[in-house]
Amino acid sequence: MRPWPGVLQAFADRLPVTDDTPPLSLGEGNTPLVPSVAFARDLPGVELFFKWEGANPTGSFKDRGMVVAVAKAAESGARAVVCASTGNTAASAAAYAARAGLPCLVVLPEGAVASGKLAQARVHGAVVASVPCSFDRALGLVREASEVLGLALVNSVNPYRLEGQKTAAFEILDQLSSPPDAVVLPVGNAGNITAYWRGFCEALPPDRRPGMFGVQAEGAAPLVLGRPVEDPQTVATAIRIGRPASWEGAVRAARESGGRVLAVSDAEILQAQARLAQEEGLFAEPASAASVAGVLRLAREGLLRGVVVAVLTGHGLKDPSAAERAAAPVRVEPTLQALAALV
Ligand code: F0G
Repeated sequence: MRPWPGVLQAFADRLPVTDDTPPLSLGEGNTPLVPSVAFARDLPGVELFFKWEGANPTGSFKDRGMVVAVAKAAESGARAVVCASTGNTAASAAAYAARAGLPCLVVLPEGAVASGKLAQARVHGAVVASVPCSFDRALGLVREASEVLGLALVNSVNPYRLEGQKTAAFEILDQLSSPPDAVVLPVGNAGNITAYWRGFCEALPPDRRPGMFGVQAEGAAPLVLGRPVEDPQTVATAIRIGRPASWEGAVRAARESGGRVLAVSDAEILQAQARLAQEEGLFAEPASAASVAGVLRLAREGLLRGVVVAVLTGHGLKDPSAAERAAAPVRVEPTLQALAALV
């Protein structure tokens, strides 16, 4: 049987892989680049694609970096891995730690994590600590814990995470006939935009690199405000972060690429999520829909042209609350006549 290839196998020559790195894989990466069929009328002069990261094994882009971080933790003989998370990092860490045979401790802000992500962390056997504080404070706590207790920290402050995540940029270049003009992605802790920019810088000369546009939620937009937000609020819980760890990386990516960081409202996010689901057939979680809300906003301001990639970072099934806003099932008699009346 051929081994199931993942990021470590597909990009071995561009990742810190050694002979001692375990061949960890759940088949992450190699996600579809789906052309938009529905947004064209709102986007004159723009050809839009979605990088569908919800197709990763645990349903988010985190798997690309997590496979590298957990493999390197195993390689170094770590006794366990630890992370703080708004949910997706925890789900991914729990899955890859399970596969690598490593214990996993995840620290989650109480009441602020979508139910599907919490279920993933639990079902993969992680020890789940729920703390009554923000993500930002939880991250500070696990940074300390990792040092004092000797655990491998697998948040995106771990350089192996960004190394793995940069592979999404390589894939986009493989999937398009020429580099995109712009890449739009949601920004929370700011690791992903930093990683994409690294990938594009490694793969392309300066004049062919895309503009990087980071999208935050209005109630959690420290990079747009230029200062930390003490009590961030947004329906997009994945990016409810007030003090991004990779702040400098995000600012540099936007500045050096000729892009920018912008903020969109929760209403714009939810509307984009509904349109993605109903008009494109893609069920992305709210944080991911922020990138599409960002595309619409940037297009209205005349700031986008050419080939644009919106990164859909996570699957909507992780946060099924969207279904509660959509049309409820109608109760009908089990007859053909009753069904006929519905269509
Ligand atoms: N989209 C989703 C679905 C996420 O889960 C995250 C981050 C982001 C976007 C933002 O990426 O942090 O690299 O800027 N989630 C982290 C977590 C914080 O704990 O799962 P970022």
